[in-house]
Amino acid sequence: MNITIIGAGYVGLVVATCFADVGNEVVCHDLDDDKIARLSRGEVPIHEPNLAPVVTRNRLAGRLRFTTSDALAIGHAGIIFLAVGTPPEGDGSADIDHVLAAARSIGRLMERPLLIVNKSTVPVGTADQVRATVAAALAGRGVDIPFDVVSNPEFLKEGMALQDFMKPDRIIVGAESAHALGVMRQLYAPFSRNHEKFVAMGTRSAELTKYAANAMLATRISFMNELAHLAGQLGADIEAVRLGIGADPRIGRQFLSAGIGYGGSCLPKDVRALIRIAARHGQHLRILRATQEVNDAQQHLLFERLASYFNGASALRGRSIALWGLAFKPDTDDMRDAPSLVLIRALLAAGATVRAYDPVASGQARRLLVAEHGEARCAASVLFASSAQEAVEQADVLVLVTEWQEFRSPDFRYLASTLRAKAVFDGRNIYDRAVLDAAGLYYEGIGRTDDRQGRAAHP
Ligand SMILES: NC(=O)c1ccc[n+]([C@@H]2O[C@H](COP(=O)([O-])OP(=O)(O)OC[C@H]3O[C@@H](n4cnc5c(N)ncnc54)[C@H](O)[C@@H]3O)[C@@H](O)[C@H]2O)c1
Repeated sequence: MNITIIGAGYVGLVVATCFADVGNEVVCHDLDDDKIARLSRGEVPIHEPNLAPVVTRNRLAGRLRFTTSDALAIGHAGIIFLAVGTPPEGDGSADIDHVLAAARSIGRLMERPLLIVNKSTVPVGTADQVRATVAAALAGRGVDIPFDVVSNPEFLKEGMALQDFMKPDRIIVGAESAHALGVMRQLYAPFSRNHEKFVAMGTRSAELTKYAANAMLATRISFMNELAHLAGQLGADIEAVRLGIGADPRIGRQFLSAGIGYGGSCLPKDVRALIRIAARHGQHLRILRATQEVNDAQQHLLFERLASYFNGASALRGRSIALWGLAFKPDTDDMRDAPSLVLIRALLAAGATVRAYDPVASGQARRLLVAEHGEARCAASVLFASSAQEAVEQADVLVLVTEWQEFRSPDFRYLASTLRAKAVFDGRNIYDRAVLDAAGLYYEGIGRTDDRQGRAAHP
């Protein structure tokens, strides 16, 4: 089939590549000249494991092309996916301007019947707005070309995006016509061979399903983070509790890790957007508001722990804090809403300096911090180290922020010999206190037995 994907970001590029890889002729369109130029000469502008060779394979086979031309993109296909960004507005609502702009271009340029598939995460009712926008553009041209609008939210995880798209848990398709559903079934058949993954529903249900999934995941994380505080107070270990409850199939093991709060390009914005959607309909989503409140507090936890370790935030002035990991999770360079940014902002405000290392996200982090603090302040306060070892040299303490594989088994004796205050703050509970104790390091995790809050409660 001929397919066009509008938006060549974390989602659009993966979707375009995977559809091309099963034999479709795909054009991927973006407004960003630089992104399209890089993709066209064989560079992949994001870090996503295993993506680059599959992009190259399909680009060289001529099945995957990149363009900034609306006319070429819209003229190419009978199926057009919208995979543009839906960033948060000031009040947390999802901004669907990019979606509607793409819909207007389609209405202005389409010459044949089309299936328009929305993959972006959008408020309930957006498919209707896309339909109305395209219809208005067609009416403005005085033409009547049939088209369908389908909602097909995406559930891939950055860091596992290719695998998630190729072997999805489920394929949610919201459609109002049997024809549209039939085309979508055919399109997704290669990804649904093992067992039936297709879940058909109305467009509004599909739009809500995406928010509901992210809201549930965020709530599990906040629940465990809140419980971690209690575990620390009671002298229990949240890691043991996690294993204990995760073994129950009604609960499951995923998304139960206590840590420094959820971040990234989806959970924070989708939780806020769903709260806004409900508020506009007079509903106060109490559980989700609590989820967000717990998360906001959790993102400040490491800073509070550091301040308390040094006997007050003012004592952080002049301290050098090493950070391992900046991206919101391993295997991505995505820094959108990364908890590391909350910590760095607080440390800089307290007068500390930061020595940060991330295997792939330092460039993105530097861009964001320079935009916030200016080049000179950033250069004076944040060193972007080129290795984990360089980050800890001359640092007072180490904070593990993102659990990249390469941080899992460091040389603790070396850390004890190089960290001036000989302390490790583990924001992801990946280390074993006994091992660090033996190496002569002070250790704090999140909700672990003998974290200081636990000791205070248990003399
Ligand atoms: N990133 C994820 O893990 C993920 C997972 C599931 C769903 N989503 C959702 O998918 C959507 C896209 O997310 P993303 O992370 O890929 O965003 P992104 O910011 O990485 O990419 C969006 C791209 O769309 C382009 N764009 C914007 N307006 C355009 C237009 N009118 N025409 C052509 N290109 C245009 C931008 O230049 C950008 O390259 C969002 O709604 C997001 O919530 C994201």
